[in-house]
Amino acid sequence: MRTTIKDIAAMTGLSITTVSLVLNNKPSRISEQSKALVFEAAKKLRYRPNELAVGLIKKHTKTLGLLLTDICNPFFASLAKGVEACCSREGWTVILCDTGESHDKELAYMQTLSSKNVDGIIYCASMDSTAQKFLESWEMMEQLGIPCVVVDRSYEGPGIRSVSTDHVMGGWLAAEHLLKLGHRRIACVTGPRHLDVCRDRLEGYRMALNKYQIPYNPALICEQRFSIESGRHAVAQLTGQPYTAVFAFNDMMAYGVCQELRAQGLRIPEDVSVVGYDDIYPSQILEVPLTTVRQPIEQLGIRAAQELIAAFSDRIPPECRVLFKPELAVRGSTAPVER
Ligand code: RIB
Repeated sequence: MRTTIKDIAAMTGLSITTVSLVLNNKPSRISEQSKALVFEAAKKLRYRPNELAVGLIKKHTKTLGLLLTDICNPFFASLAKGVEACCSREGWTVILCDTGESHDKELAYMQTLSSKNVDGIIYCASMDSTAQKFLESWEMMEQLGIPCVVVDRSYEGPGIRSVSTDHVMGGWLAAEHLLKLGHRRIACVTGPRHLDVCRDRLEGYRMALNKYQIPYNPALICEQRFSIESGRHAVAQLTGQPYTAVFAFNDMMAYGVCQELRAQGLRIPEDVSVVGYDDIYPSQILEVPLTTVRQPIEQLGIRAAQELIAAFSDRIPPECRVLFKPELAVRGSTAPVER
């Protein structure tokens, strides 16, 4: 039996009007304590808004909210460009929100977007997200009656629709390229390892090592935070390790790795080969253009927007998990290992 707002009113002792205002995030003078009571009861009763009723009450605005985690990273700028390109073709508007890699900001933006009656949300989980926090975000959007498509970082779960790149294949491509060049001690600079995008890249790296019967060496794995600065810190962290190549899990960290290696008097690729991930636009114009795993970033954004808009136009029902294939862009930052 579907839970209704009447059940939540009965459980909390609040009026049906109050419960409705809170769940639809309407401006009101309702206390934070009452709002918390309503959300707690909705969670306990596994409340799911009747989308048809919500749709009838809420006027479609043909607006979608786009929650990205760092718009200073060209990866997310290109992702936003893809979403906007699809939306403008379909006559939709995009509201862009930068969560600054914060789960709490993610939740706050979801409330704000609900109050602006967006018809859907596309979002990328923040770096501090976990399976539990992700579920919290997902359940909030369900309670607010806002359809959602997750792009890039995601977690498995019932009804979760996501668009991403096949990062196991991406990790494999990077590692196999270096192995074919004769490298046998390949350091990895990962992003936060609890994220699926990092777990899968590392899996692809390990599969390639297995193929060449090279033991996995945890001392060569350095967890960082997807920024240029953290790439520099990784080189310091790997001091003393005898690596001849570095696989950085995004281009921004690869830039920091190259900077710090050069500061230590090492040449790229003569002394150390470096591979990045994403293929953001600066990578091809560097003094030593970066070899990197190319994600179809704008395509990811376009497809995520298509999935969400299709849900409103009764076109192809949204798939649960769309995976794009990465490619390897071989440039000047990798070379055969010096014997
Ligand atoms: O550069 C940002 C990284 O975080 C990318 O690799 C992307 O996949 C995101 O998860």
